[in-house]
Amino acid sequence: MSSSSSHEAKFRILDGLLRPKFLAVVGASGTPGKLGYTVLKNILANGYEGTVFPINPNETEILGLRVYKSVLDVAGDIDAAVICVPAKLCAQVAEECGKKGVRGLIVITAGFSEVGRKNLEEELVAISRRYGTRVLGPNIVGIMSNSDKLNASFAPFLPFPGKPSLVSQSGALIVAMDAATYFRGIGFDKMISVGNMADVDFADCVEWLDADSNTTCISLYIEGVKNGRRFIDAARRVRTPIVALKAGVSAQGAAAAASHTGALAGAAKVYEAAFKQSGIVEADNLNVLFDRGLALSLQPPMRGGNLFILTNGGGVGVLATDAAEKFGLPLQSAPADLQAELRKHMPEYGSAKNPADLTAMAGKDWYYDCVKAILRHAWVDGLVILYCETSLTVPMEVAQSIHKGIQDSGMSDKPVAIAFVGGEQSGECLHWFIEKGLPAYDVPDKAVNAVAALREHSKLRMLVTEILPEPGKPIPEAAQDVIAAVRAQGRRVLTEVEAKEVFASYGLPVAATVLAKTEDAAVKAARDIGFPVVLKIVSPDILHKSDAGGVKLNIKDDDAVRSAFRNIMAGAKSYKAGANIRGVAVQQMAPAGTEIILGSVIDPSFGPTVMFGLGGIFVEVLKDVTFRIAPVSLTQAGRMMDEIEGAPILAGARGETPRDRDALAELITVYSRMIMDLEDDIAESDANPVFVYEKGRGLKVVDARIILKKR
Ligand code: COA
Repeated sequence: MSSSSSHEAKFRILDGLLRPKFLAVVGASGTPGKLGYTVLKNILANGYEGTVFPINPNETEILGLRVYKSVLDVAGDIDAAVICVPAKLCAQVAEECGKKGVRGLIVITAGFSEVGRKNLEEELVAISRRYGTRVLGPNIVGIMSNSDKLNASFAPFLPFPGKPSLVSQSGALIVAMDAATYFRGIGFDKMISVGNMADVDFADCVEWLDADSNTTCISLYIEGVKNGRRFIDAARRVRTPIVALKAGVSAQGAAAAASHTGALAGAAKVYEAAFKQSGIVEADNLNVLFDRGLALSLQPPMRGGNLFILTNGGGVGVLATDAAEKFGLPLQSAPADLQAELRKHMPEYGSAKNPADLTAMAGKDWYYDCVKAILRHAWVDGLVILYCETSLTVPMEVAQSIHKGIQDSGMSDKPVAIAFVGGEQSGECLHWFIEKGLPAYDVPDKAVNAVAALREHSKLRMLVTEILPEPGKPIPEAAQDVIAAVRAQGRRVLTEVEAKEVFASYGLPVAATVLAKTEDAAVKAARDIGFPVVLKIVSPDILHKSDAGGVKLNIKDDDAVRSAFRNIMAGAKSYKAGANIRGVAVQQMAPAGTEIILGSVIDPSFGPTVMFGLGGIFVEVLKDVTFRIAPVSLTQAGRMMDEIEGAPILAGARGETPRDRDALAELITVYSRMIMDLEDDIAESDANPVFVYEKGRGLKVVDARIILKKR
């Protein structure tokens, strides 16, 4: 099968699963209160236009429908089957569904891997795979779709209608959010519960929802992605905006980590990186997931950074200004011609800067004129409109004229968000705005955050078109030889010299280093490399070389080499009796530069992951580091440099010359390729420190570490 036809086939199957026309309910029950009863009742409650087949061996009719003993007794096709029988019966049901040619199972049943019964889950998936049946769940609430009038779940009702669709790993959260859509007035078209994700996962849902014309934003509630790379690939491909909330962001496995990178690579940092690389806008809590999802589902991306704020109250204007700064859209003063135009529509004591304050006297006409003028001005990229309820104005009248102003501006490609701060009347206006396609909120910072999401979306989407470092080049032989030799000796930790050989095989600029076993060899190596040199102990048993007196810097002649060699050897022996000492590394004394650290770990979900930060206290005390999933493009490498707190140091703080960013970007990119190529072998690695020199002068990897995976 060609890849495009297999893609189509996969799509047809998911369509059958998530938009079924013929739907069986296996375990449908006639007993009110039982899950199989509730699900069937819910399916029938909302005007679902498909055909429903209740399946139960002991019943003949439930809720007025004919009941079948098995799916095999149904004459026609079945697209999907909702499974409501106990876990121990699911394998047999999956077998029957497979034979029947059912495309997908919606397995509500709990009691699988989430309670340690992994084998039951694997059996269910194995049977389904044999027949090409897809499995949603198990351990889910079900699926809901407003546009299909289908509630195939045990959540009590369909959500308030909206344009985003939600995919959630937590079933309880779906039920809770379902109810919350009504009082928030922020709805969903679809709510899909993915539960244990034994088969259908976020990547499948994201791709399928991207093709769904009723979904204009994909909202994700994520606890843990199983196949991170597949997820990133899918998210990068889709055009529909995605907003995700990642729960459980405490540092995982940090205690057991053997390197800086391992200790710093918490789930929060790695997911943040994955989202950035796949164009996903982040939400940091449930409220923000609703608010950002609403804006992304209704408004176009914000293509530039010029946000304008229009208000009738100074206080909310200040709050919005603070929020703009916080969310990365600091306000700039409006151009003089725009200010002049706005001054025509406000009292003398108003302000036409940014925020523009129409004052409490602002009537509907001023709002109309200003909204139109602001949106039409080329400088403006996005607009937040604030209104405080006063007894001088009628909120709905103001709302209507704002809407008209937006429409009459003809600028449908610039995003707008609204905050009406007040009581019941303002609340009604918010619902009205949302119906008209305008994201509207009860406080100013939510509106600003919403527009910031549209800006982030625009920036992230530009990035995902970046060029990734080319895969598929042969792994350098030198790297393979070093790793094979280390493994043959039963070791997992490479010596510095070995690690540098691997780095060097990828063309990374390491400080020249030679292993010397004798004093004479050390002198020869020092002469070959050129003075001054550094001497360091090489022993897999001594990780902290300085503590063992194992590092001597700035050695300038033959005699100094000899005495340093002797001191190091003696120090090492007394530091750890019986240590396996391989010799002394003679290394080029690289001129000092700005110290940075690069590191890598294998993340359980996303695989090889790169860390970057400034060295020394920046990494050790301030933990000022950032991550990306390998491979890292040059663009992403540049963003890594920009987003650490210490960015100004690289840019040339306090009159210093800027550092060589191009060389650094190249280093990050090639390093990311190296750890991907060698992902079967390398568990953790770092280049620490790397000295980065002035722009145009490159950099040097001064020390390197590689720890191999267990075999
Ligand atoms: N085909 C069809 N129906 C079958 C069947 C088969 N092979 N074998 C049994 N049934 C029927 C039963 O007779 C029963 O119908 P009845 O009420 O007419 O007797 C029905 O299926 C359900 O079986 P039952 O044994 O009564 O199970 P139950 O209703 O007590 O529990 C689940 C079933 C699925 C609700 C339960 O196992 C479960 O998983 N609950 C948790 C659900 C959950 O929390 N999901 C995650 C949410 S996030």
